[in-house]
Amino acid sequence: MDRIELHKAGHFRGEFSPTPDKSISHRAVLFSSLAKGRSVIRNFLRAEDPLSTLRACRALGADIDDSGDDIIVRGTGIRCLAEPSDVIDCGNSGTTMRLLAGVLSGNAIFSVLTGDASLRMRPMARIIQPLRLMGAEILARAENKYPPLAIKGGALKGITYSMPIASAQVKSALVLAGLCAAGQNRITEPAQSRDHTERMLPAFGADVAVDGLSVTVNSGGELLGTDITVPGDFSSAAFFIVAAILVRNADITITGVGINPTRTGLLRVLREMGAAIEISHIREVSGEAVADIHCRGSAALNAITVTGEQIPALIDEFPVLCVAATQAAGVTTIRGAEELRVKESDRIRTMVTELRKMGAEVDEFHDGLSISGGRPLRGAVIESYGDHRVAMAMTVAGLIAEGSTTVHGISYVNISFPGFFQLLRTLTA
Ligand code: S3P
Repeated sequence: MDRIELHKAGHFRGEFSPTPDKSISHRAVLFSSLAKGRSVIRNFLRAEDPLSTLRACRALGADIDDSGDDIIVRGTGIRCLAEPSDVIDCGNSGTTMRLLAGVLSGNAIFSVLTGDASLRMRPMARIIQPLRLMGAEILARAENKYPPLAIKGGALKGITYSMPIASAQVKSALVLAGLCAAGQNRITEPAQSRDHTERMLPAFGADVAVDGLSVTVNSGGELLGTDITVPGDFSSAAFFIVAAILVRNADITITGVGINPTRTGLLRVLREMGAAIEISHIREVSGEAVADIHCRGSAALNAITVTGEQIPALIDEFPVLCVAATQAAGVTTIRGAEELRVKESDRIRTMVTELRKMGAEVDEFHDGLSISGGRPLRGAVIESYGDHRVAMAMTVAGLIAEGSTTVHGISYVNISFPGFFQLLRTLTA
C-alpha cells in the first residue's frame, strides 16, 4: 500500500545526519564520468534521481563501480561519450535530463532522452534554445517543448547568453556544453541559483570563472578524475527543521548539512518568522560549506512576505515552507514563484489544494499564494501528485494536525530520500 497514516506527534527529538545531497550527487557522478582517469565519490545519494544519472553515465560509456561504500568512476573524457544503443531513461529527474542535454550537445553522437510521465511534461525549450544557438541539433515533442529529446551533438561554438529565468539546471547545461565548445561561453542569470556546478568543476580542472551572476567557461583541456565527498542535503534536512519548529517541545540536531547560501533561503525565512535555529561547527567538504543545525519547537511564528529574489535559494523548500506558514500568525505571502508550477508537480496548485483539505485558509495567485496562518490543521486524506517533496511536506503537516492524516503516494520519497519514514518514526517514538 502506497500510503501512510499519521497522528499528531507528541515527541520529536534526536540527532542524525541527513541523506547525501541530491544535486551534488548528480554532478559528482556526471563530472566524474566526463573526466579522464579515476574518481572516487564518497557519500553518494543512492536514491532514484541520482541513480538515473549514474545509469545514464554508464549507458554513455563510463565505467562505474557501485559495489562498495564509495563509487569508483573511470570516465570517458569530455568529448568521448559512447553512442547509447537505446533511449536513455532519466526517470523523474529534470537535473539528469537537462545536464545530460548540455553534455550530449558537444559529443558527436545521437541520443534520445526520455523520462516518466511527470518529466515528459517539464519544459525543455529553456535548454533547447540556447543549445541550438551553440550549434546543437535538438528536437523535442510538442514543437520542441517537452521530452523526449533527440540530440545530435557535434561541434559547438561559445555564446554570450542571458538566461530569462534563474535555473541551476539550465546554467549547468550551458556550462557543460561550454566545456566542449570552441571559444568562450558566458552565461548570465537574472538571480543566483544554486552554484554546485561552478564550485565542483574546477576540482576536475575545468576553466570556470564566476563574476557576480555570470559564469564564464573556456573550453580546452580534458577534465581529470578527482575525489568528491558529498555533504548532507539541506533540502532533505528542511522537512525535519520545519517539523522540529512546529512540534511542541521538539529538539533536533542535524549534523553535516550543506549550508551553501544558494540553498539555505529557508533558514533565513524561518529565522525572520521567529524560529529558534542555531548553526554550529561550520566546516568545508569538497568546496561546500557544511554545519550542524539545532532546532527547537518555536513558541510563536510570525507571518512574512517572500518575494521573487528569495525564491531560487528556497526553490525546493516551497512545499514545506507553506506548511510552516499555516502556523505563523498573520498572512504569509509568497510571490514571484511561478517556477514552482513546472516542478515535479504544479507545486503552487498542489499545496493550495492539499492544505485547504486540512482546513488552512489559502489564496492562490498565478505566481504564488498567501496563507492566513495561526490556526490548527485538521487531519485529511492527502494526495502527493507523484511529487516527492509534496509527499514529505504533507507528512510534516500530518505531524501537527488534529486527528489522523493519510498521505498517498509515499513511494515517491525514494526519488530523493530513501529512509524518510524510518527516520521520522525514530524521532517521534
Ligand atoms: C536543481 C536545480 C533546481 C531544483 C532541482 C535541482 C539542480 O531546479 O529545483 O530540484 O540540481 O540543479 P532549477 O534549476 O530548474 O530551478
